[in-house]
Amino acid sequence: QNLSERSLAAVADFIKSGRARRIVVMTGAGISTAAGIPDFRSPETGLYANLAALNLPEPEAVFDLAFFQQNPRPFYALARELYPGARYRPTVSHAFLALLARKNLLHVLFTQNIDCLERAAGVPPDRIIEAHGSFATQRCIDCREPFADDAKMRESVERGEVPRCERVVGRDEDETDGIGGKEQDEERRCGGLVKPDIVFFGEALPKAFFERSGAVQEADLVLVMGTSLQVHPFAGLPNMAEEEVPRVLFNLERVGSFGTRADDVMVLGDCDAGVRKLADALGWRDELEKAWRE
Ligand code: OAD
Repeated sequence: QNLSERSLAAVADFIKSGRARRIVVMTGAGISTAAGIPDFRSPETGLYANLAALNLPEPEAVFDLAFFQQNPRPFYALARELYPGARYRPTVSHAFLALLARKNLLHVLFTQNIDCLERAAGVPPDRIIEAHGSFATQRCIDCREPFADDAKMRESVERGEVPRCERVVGRDEDETDGIGGKEQDEERRCGGLVKPDIVFFGEALPKAFFERSGAVQEADLVLVMGTSLQVHPFAGLPNMAEEEVPRVLFNLERVGSFGTRADDVMVLGDCDAGVRKLADALGWRDELEKAWRE
């Protein structure tokens, strides 16, 4: 047994003792790679390493508002890949989070992911803070008018087309005579670019993120899973936990300030394997596998 496995047993004992009642979880793209969705920064498989074909000035430009205004096509090419739908199934890690919620132990889940797999796994929406927004809604970047037709949005994305704002801003007099000799007017539309409400670089995070970030200070256990903790302000969340609160990292690599606190536990490797080990130590393994298969 290595050190992390002994520590994981201690974490399990802590949860079983009933003293961990408010578990706060922070997740990133790494919990969805097993579902077939690439993460961003993994050296070979990550999206940023594979965006060369889209001719971007730098990979992050795909989520840059100024760049999107000039050229929305690279983002929509990516959106086609990432758009939530029946294509992707929640992973064991997602199922574990749903299990925590079912056992009334999940205080708040902060996710950076836009794939909506937490909901799909059955984590109650009121426990989830989608810190970087999601594909659930969309609006015009010029007039901010919501684009309400979700079905049309989905069609556009699937066809790789860029949807445009349909808000009527006026009428153009039509010169030609219409039916019955009456003059017909043409509606003038806003036509601005429509963008899903996911947070681009330079945009503010949703209000809910700031309103609920205090929940980290209420945590008696913090779990961080599948994130490089490179993007702020999200990356600052684990540091907001009280000093004596154990923080557990399930990730391929060490990230953020993990390892600087006495009670940090690092379970380095695949996060599904890590949560299975924790579930074993908790005696929850069968329940976890069943929840995942459902
Ligand atoms: P990253 O791609 O930056 O980090 C993913 C982390 O998960 C890395 O540390 C990987 O090593 C790790 N990882 C990958 N697969 C794993 C697995 N199966 N098990 C365990 N760990 C694994 O993704 P995020 O941290 O989520 O912004 O990125 C943060 C933000 O940067 C994203 O929300 C996105 C991006 O720009 C927007 O979309 C607006």
